[in-house]
Amino acid sequence: MNISVIGGGAWGTTLAQLLADNGNNVLIRDINPEFVEKINKAHMHPFFDVEIPHNIKATLDLKEACDMSNVLVLCVPTKAMRTVLKDINTVITNKKLFINVSKGIEPNTSFRVSQIVDEEIAKDKIEDYVVLSGPSHAEEVILRKVTSLVAASYNPKSALLVQNIFSNDKYLRVYSSDDVIGVETGGAMKNAIAIVSGIASGMGLGENARASLISRGVKEIVQIVKALGGKEDTAYGLSGVGDLIVTASSMNSRNFQCGLKIGKGMSASEAQGSSVQTVEGIRAIEAGYEIGQKYHLDLPIINTAYLVVNGKLDAKVALQMLLSRSLKAE
Ligand SMILES: NC(=O)c1ccc[n+]([C@@H]2O[C@H](COP(=O)([O-])OP(=O)(O)OC[C@H]3O[C@@H](n4cnc5c(N)ncnc54)[C@H](O)[C@@H]3O)[C@@H](O)[C@H]2O)c1
Repeated sequence: MNISVIGGGAWGTTLAQLLADNGNNVLIRDINPEFVEKINKAHMHPFFDVEIPHNIKATLDLKEACDMSNVLVLCVPTKAMRTVLKDINTVITNKKLFINVSKGIEPNTSFRVSQIVDEEIAKDKIEDYVVLSGPSHAEEVILRKVTSLVAASYNPKSALLVQNIFSNDKYLRVYSSDDVIGVETGGAMKNAIAIVSGIASGMGLGENARASLISRGVKEIVQIVKALGGKEDTAYGLSGVGDLIVTASSMNSRNFQCGLKIGKGMSASEAQGSSVQTVEGIRAIEAGYEIGQKYHLDLPIINTAYLVVNGKLDAKVALQMLLSRSLKAE
């Protein structure tokens, strides 16, 4: 099958290798000429010191990527997704299957990627939409380490198709789901709790505190998923708790790293600015706060984190506030 990957960063190029391993022809489109040259000439991953299959090609030309395939894997940061989708809608002339692998919530609108796709892609240009998410550090998948993901679509046939395209019996197993909202929301919100977990570590708190924040954070993710119409089970699955486990205590996680810097005293913008790559969790904290206000949810961790990342509350005072809340049943 011909497959185009839109966004050739850490995750996009890693998925390109997986898709090539599974016997597909893959063309990556990225806006960064250095990445494109590195992939085409050196056959190297743009970020990792890993040689990738030589049949993977890259281009700067969005139209070329879209013309090559009826399957588009969306892998740009969520904040850039709307612009990229507008451009895709302009250049495509037939129906495409959109597979989104980005985890995040759009700034300002708080939209999930499926909602942005709905707004930006004309109805006669979309075959279907599938979100593919789960615990997956690109650093491990590029080394073909065993990983499981979940593919969710309102159309079971499309979820099944993506399950088959991405699965292999060597290192990648994909489960299917019909809960698009649950998968998208869990995947975005785990980044919020990963930042909180990083802040705690940066402040010098121990593993007990981190485990408490993560498990109480799960309660908050579940509330948000349910409020938006997703299923509780999905929040406890690969795209929610699974991804939270891998993100919230790993030095490989950019969100955890960002939190770590905030916990050590940097502002959120300084902490984000020092990473060249995508950090989606700050926006997820803001979106979680807004959703909580809208649906009157009890989200003490996310609400407190919101004040910290916006510079309105010192992390030490925030911790004191969390600890001094009235005691309650679990
Ligand atoms: N890195 C991982 O381990 C991983 C795993 C699973 C999911 N994800 C998700 O995948 C998404 C991308 O993450 P990543 O790690 O590949 O990020 P990245 O920053 O490494 O790569 C993003 C790519 O998008 C391109 N891009 C940025 N702005 C663009 C624009 N306006 N138009 C077109 N292209 C643009 C960049 O050139 C870059 O190559 C994120 O939502 C992330 O949460 C990442």
